[in-house]
Amino acid sequence: MTRAIGLFLASLFLSTIASSSKMSGVTEARWHALNASVNGRLHIAKPFALPCFSRYDNVSLAVDEQACRAIQANYTSPAFRIESFSANMMVEYETCMSTASGCLLDSTDPQGTLATDGTSCDQGDISPYYIDIGLASDIQTAFQFSKETDVPLSIKNSGHDYLGRTRRRDSLGLWTHNLQEISYHPQFVPEQCGGSHRAITVGAGVTFEQVYAFADENDAMFIGGYAQTIGASGGWMMGGGHGVLSPSFGLGVDRVLEIKIVTPDGMLRTANACQNTDLFWALRGGGGGTFGVVIESTHLVEQRIPIQVINMTFTPTDTNLQEYFEILVNTSAQWGSEGWGGHINHSPPGIIYVNPRLSLDEATASMAQLTAFAKLNNGTSVIETLPSWLPFFTQFIVEVEAPVGSPKVLGSRLMPLALFESVEGRSRLVTHLLNQTAERGLPYIPVTTPIAFNYTPGTTSVTPAWRNSLWNLSNGPVWAYNSSVAEIRATLVSLHDFVHDQLTALAPDSGAYMNEGEIYESNHEFAYWGPNYERLLAVKNKYDPDGLLDCWKCVGWKGATHFPCYLTLA
Ligand SMILES: Cc1cc2nc3c(=O)[nH]c(=O)nc-3n(C[C@H](O)[C@H](O)[C@H](O)COP(=O)(O)OP(=O)(O)OC[C@H]3O[C@@H](n4cnc5c(N)ncnc54)[C@H](O)[C@@H]3O)c2cc1C
Ligand SMILES: *[C@@H]1O[C@H](CO)[C@@H](O)[C@H](O)[C@H]1NC(C)=O
Ligand SMILES: *[C@@H]1O[C@H](CO)[C@@H](O)[C@H](O)[C@H]1NC(C)=O
Ligand SMILES: *[C@@H]1O[C@H](CO)[C@@H](O)[C@H](O)[C@H]1NC(C)=O
Ligand SMILES: *[C@@H]1O[C@H](CO)[C@@H](O)[C@H](O)[C@H]1NC(C)=O
Ligand SMILES: *[C@@H]1O[C@H](CO)[C@@H](O)[C@H](O)[C@H]1NC(C)=O
Ligand SMILES: *[C@@H]1O[C@H](CO)[C@@H](O)[C@H](O)[C@H]1NC(C)=O
Ligand SMILES: *[C@@H]1O[C@H](CO)[C@@H](O)[C@H](O)[C@H]1NC(C)=O
Ligand SMILES: *[C@@H]1O[C@H](CO)[C@@H](O)[C@H](O)[C@H]1NC(C)=O
Ligand SMILES: *[C@@H]1O[C@H](CO)[C@@H](O)[C@H](O)[C@H]1NC(C)=O
Repeated sequence: MTRAIGLFLASLFLSTIASSSKMSGVTEARWHALNASVNGRLHIAKPFALPCFSRYDNVSLAVDEQACRAIQANYTSPAFRIESFSANMMVEYETCMSTASGCLLDSTDPQGTLATDGTSCDQGDISPYYIDIGLASDIQTAFQFSKETDVPLSIKNSGHDYLGRTRRRDSLGLWTHNLQEISYHPQFVPEQCGGSHRAITVGAGVTFEQVYAFADENDAMFIGGYAQTIGASGGWMMGGGHGVLSPSFGLGVDRVLEIKIVTPDGMLRTANACQNTDLFWALRGGGGGTFGVVIESTHLVEQRIPIQVINMTFTPTDTNLQEYFEILVNTSAQWGSEGWGGHINHSPPGIIYVNPRLSLDEATASMAQLTAFAKLNNGTSVIETLPSWLPFFTQFIVEVEAPVGSPKVLGSRLMPLALFESVEGRSRLVTHLLNQTAERGLPYIPVTTPIAFNYTPGTTSVTPAWRNSLWNLSNGPVWAYNSSVAEIRATLVSLHDFVHDQLTALAPDSGAYMNEGEIYESNHEFAYWGPNYERLLAVKNKYDPDGLLDCWKCVGWKGATHFPCYLTLA
């Protein structure tokens, strides 16, 4: 696309949103002034796949063949998507779901022309403007701009959020991906605090794969999650942050020592156990996009140690699934207390668990019944010692990285230890698992709750359900790039009913992980934060007195009417 057409489209675009948003009141001169005060880091955002389309907002333009080929080739690659402000991992959030309008390719055939032929690319839910954040002052400028113009803000880091909280229609986007500093501290002392810790500081844009490699180079282990490209300092850390070593070493919120953040009142603050302690507590579970824009955070790291790994598979049949689920359900409380974490896999059927506490012999004994089951059911069970976290991550996670680029949502529920401890509870779980398998296929179950971690009560704001749960039961339906509003709604209604009638019914007093909740969770305040919600709301109002930040079902959420691209279920 030539520069002239680009500018023409930009002005056309501004005129189309003029009637419907606060952006209409912002003059060209004001945008230029904003750009100047952020050192030229203000950019116009266009849909990720626009280069493949010959129409944008119903206006013809030339296809950019070269750019399109790169997008097609890497359409399902998280590493490619993370470099673009306009790309999400779950692509429905690039679109406007309520009108099914967007600019998507078919992720099952990105080279196919059916998606682009005769279709006009639409801006969807993507902010027309964003700031590529470089300095704390860029954020202060953005808050001031929003206060003066009423233009809403949105914050995007890696774009992994399952509830689309990186997007808000007609907002000014703040992109933290390029905050890439990383440093190692043999003896980190949080400002104004005593005590020293082995720690790593990461800029908001640093990803797990970066921090895992960096920690390993420093003979340390960073305790984080399963996907390479999630940010270690963004929504993951603020919403909870689980990983397969969390049963022993705690959640992301348990391990963060200090956070540097610009709050919406314009202040650059340091939050830790000794200053801005209310904010520190709120940031340890209250969620991203709510209390300010995080610049960097510092996390406790562990010494590199060997870990035991089990990779067990089997061949499911009509007759062996009940025994399999019984072994898992019967033994999970014991496995939890021994420090095992991992995931129960749907493909290939089996489990991958890790343990940083047991010896190889103890690990083998702990898994004896499951290993015997595998051998009798055309399966395998390999238990081995890996030298540290990074080799495990490289062999078991990087190798099987899930493709992204299709529309997908989740619904999940934390399953309390108590269910696993009574005969009746175990029987209900097994019945549920058989039923869920028949209805929706074998489940994928992360086993990542901090069940064997020595938690200091009151230090974090995640729902206390995290502290006494063992499993997270979930379902993650997908739909097609070109599904209609009615088809999308039907998928979302079915998921909502499943989560409400089946998962929540199993554990009504439990909660859910806010980063992996169901979009239409009926009582999200209780599900995500339990008794902590009122206090979180007070902290939100203290640091964001003008309500400049708002996101879907976040603390202080102002309601669905402010988010017109989420469709209504009924
Ligand atoms: C494939 C996949 C695997 C996953 N695996 C795990 C896992 O193993 N463990 C786990 O706990 N979770 C996992 N998640 C969920 C993940 O934790 C959330 O998607 C999380 O929100 C991602 O945070 P982010 O900052 O990288 O992403 P984003 O989607 O960019 O941001 C998430 C939220 O945080 C806000 N935010 C981001 N950066 C900042 C900032 N600097 N300041 C303030 N607010 C900010 C955004 O506004 C948004 O609300 C997974 C998700 C996917 C898609
Ligand atoms: C902001 O300024 C930079 C540098 O001058 C320029 O490259 C960029 O296009 C400008 N952004 C907008 C939205 O005009
Ligand atoms: C593009 O044209 C279609 C069909 O005429 C119309 O429904 C849609 O609103 C138009 N979109 C824009 C952005 O003008
Ligand atoms: C995109 O995909 C092509 C082909 O697979 C690859 O050669 C290229 O390096 C990728 N580009 C980026 C930026 O990842
Ligand atoms: C699981 O435990 C129940 C008792 O709660 C027992 O009846 C059942 O045989 C056990 N299942 C297996 C496979 O060990
Ligand atoms: C045994 O398992 C292998 C894969 O591990 C599978 O291909 C094969 O079909 C299985 N055989 C039976 C009899 O289930
Ligand atoms: C786990 O075991 C299965 C079955 O032997 C094998 O196919 C798979 O590659 C193993 N996974 C890893 C990451 O080694
Ligand atoms: C089993 O699944 C059916 C739907 O196929 C559902 O109606 C029923 O409530 C489920 N039962 C349990 C115990 O979850
Ligand atoms: C819940 O399950 C989903 C889907 O399998 C997974 O992505 C997520 O990490 C899980 N959450 C927790 C809290 O374990
Ligand atoms: C969606 O696209 C596929 C092919 O890409 C096509 O077969 C199907 O008919 C389309 N569905 C709708 C609702 O347009």
